[in-house]
Amino acid sequence: MLAAPVVKTVGLKKTYMLGKVPVNALCGVNFKVEQGDFLTILGPSGSGKSTLLNMIGALDKPTDGQVMINGVDVSTLNDNQLADLRKSIGFVFQFFNLIPRLSARGNVELPLAIAGVNKAERRKRAEELLTSVGLKDRMNHKPAELSGGERQRVAIARALANSPSFLLMDEPTGNIDSKTAKEIIGLIKTLNQDDGVTIIMITHDEKLANQGKRIMMMLDGAIVKEVDVQ
Ligand SMILES: Nc1ncnc2c1ncn2[C@@H]1O[C@H](COP(=O)(O)OP(=O)(O)OP(=O)(O)O)[C@@H](O)[C@H]1O
Ligand SMILES: [Mg+2]
Repeated sequence: MLAAPVVKTVGLKKTYMLGKVPVNALCGVNFKVEQGDFLTILGPSGSGKSTLLNMIGALDKPTDGQVMINGVDVSTLNDNQLADLRKSIGFVFQFFNLIPRLSARGNVELPLAIAGVNKAERRKRAEELLTSVGLKDRMNHKPAELSGGERQRVAIARALANSPSFLLMDEPTGNIDSKTAKEIIGLIKTLNQDDGVTIIMITHDEKLANQGKRIMMMLDGAIVKEVDVQ
């Protein structure tokens, strides 16, 4: 049997109410992401990219339409099931969201600890992950003692800790210089090509979007174009 798409949306709509004024952030979005895909979502500020990401990550509820994750309709899940679903997604954000007080290793160990992995096992896994993102020599550094690119590598290692079914990234290179951004994209590409990690990445940058396998362009809450990258 063919596996269900990792993500599928049907007629997805989101309207925010600003006082009495409705803001139509998503106006009927339909798309699919299959396992092993690397989709980039490109669009100007305010086009609905983060809103879409919040729906796919089950961080917020749509006004109308469906989100299916690995064949499961998110709207049928209770709070515990939603929490479990979120744990199966690797989130990476623009501002890293690392815990300042914890070392790089501690940050990567945290989701493993929450998942109940024992101390020796999680230390081993965190060290493997940090090594795989090129931070073998930075494990004991705290976020403030790391560069922007290194912080984002820690965030990516952390997102991978519980072997997520896909990575969901909102402007992962939005807060780092363009040279470091290229390195981070190189890392993300390797994860996709060599390890088969499914990736959905929002970016403002057309050049970076071209590093994925497929580009979806958004404007005013709708998909206006889909392109396969050659
Ligand atoms: N909580 C909210 N309440 C009201 N309106 C909102 C809310 N969040 C987003 N919006 C509006 O919805 C639209 C889409 O916002 P969204 O954050 O998804 O855009 P974006 O494409 O991610 O933009 P950016 O590239 O600047 O991050 C915008 O017009 C925004 O003003
Ligand atoms: Mg955004």
